[in-house]
Amino acid sequence: MDKFIIMGGNRLHGKVSVQSAKNTVLPLLSCCILCKEQIVLKNCPCISDVKKMTEIIERMGGKIEFCDDDLKIDCSDIHYIEINEELTKSIRSSVFMLGSLLGRFSRATVAYPGGCEIGKRPIDIHIAGLKTLGVQIMETEKFIECDGAELHSDKIILSMPSVGATENMIMAAVLTAGVTVIENAAKEPEIEDLQNFINAMGGNVSGAGSDKITVVGVKRLHGCTYTPIGDRIVGGTYLAMCAGCGGDLTVCNCDMKGLSAVLDVFKACGCWVETCGTEVRLISEGNLRAIPLLRTGPFPAFPTDMQPQICAVLTTADGVSLIEENIFESRFKYVRQLELMGADIAIQDRRALVTGVNALKPSIVSAEDLRGGAALITAALMTDGVSVVYGAEHVDRGYFKIEETLTTLGADIVRVGC
Ligand code: UD1
Repeated sequence: MDKFIIMGGNRLHGKVSVQSAKNTVLPLLSCCILCKEQIVLKNCPCISDVKKMTEIIERMGGKIEFCDDDLKIDCSDIHYIEINEELTKSIRSSVFMLGSLLGRFSRATVAYPGGCEIGKRPIDIHIAGLKTLGVQIMETEKFIECDGAELHSDKIILSMPSVGATENMIMAAVLTAGVTVIENAAKEPEIEDLQNFINAMGGNVSGAGSDKITVVGVKRLHGCTYTPIGDRIVGGTYLAMCAGCGGDLTVCNCDMKGLSAVLDVFKACGCWVETCGTEVRLISEGNLRAIPLLRTGPFPAFPTDMQPQICAVLTTADGVSLIEENIFESRFKYVRQLELMGADIAIQDRRALVTGVNALKPSIVSAEDLRGGAALITAALMTDGVSVVYGAEHVDRGYFKIEETLTTLGADIVRVGC
């Protein structure tokens, strides 16, 4: 259990290149279970969520090697295991393995994911979709047991464009004979990346990025080398830190389509933003304007995974900002910690009213989740003086050695073991 000690007040400047997106690498790793040949995923971050997912695949007999930043995955000899409570606890994304386990073994048992720190994470949409595909499902108090002996193609209409459910349905359908159509599918860039990856292995998926995805079943997938898209949330987080602290930052390897709503907010705050290819440059004087209304929503709306970081930035903006969280109901837990730093935030249900204060004060705070932790680091960097942010393990789930990257950008931050 580490903590960060941050001497805030420095402007951020320089260049940072983001690695492949966590929210792509995790489903891609799960998808590798469907292939019996070697796959190489390029430029992968060695973050704890990725390491835990690789551990699960290794427990199944898969061979995985991190060579520099490339992940070499060989699932030719894997065998079926139950994803028990211990494994599910270690990585909540294990529910995203239902589709690929069914595709490979015609069965899957995953411990129920239960609640988590950003709100309940129900899986009813996953279950309903799999049932449409002929999967028999038995839910006990702790386990979801799926029997895919009669798995078949069909038309699935998701009741909500869930990212994970869309990914699970695609993976369940890849090796299933016939044509599966997924309607009201999630349109996130990470879904498009999953489609491109599957097609690079010889699969036949089309329509990702729209709300209707078609999967034509193929007999087998072959190995490939694939470079997933850059992490728009990691890139957006560093840009938010620069917006809040002031400075001149260029982020490379960005998926611009995925960042568009976030960049619009930085511009509305008064930052200068320019994009060129996969690079985005942001210049901020640190004296930002409030945002009258910021609503999170499914893509292409503002991503919920950037909501805490933007909230931290808006704590010292001029005026009153209103943030509406429309994806995860408990995603304002970090607000109490920002209040300890002097932020003026009133929460009512899914809304946070943020009244800009002159300055935050250095404090000792604790991260309770990944993006909330990134928000606290952002706030600490914006503060004149020394702050301590506990809970580095949450931040490590999604940011690789964040303190080293920030140091190269001029921040004064160190990691200390507790
Ligand atoms: C993924 C991302 C997460 C991101 C989220 C929304 C990964 C590993 N995680 O999570 O970082 O914040 O998309 O962009 O890619 N829901 C149901 N029933 C279901 C499934 C979802 O009610 O069966 C609800 C959820 O509670 C939530 C909403 O749908 O309110 C969106 O969830 P979903 O898109 O499924 O998010 P995840 O795939 O879990």
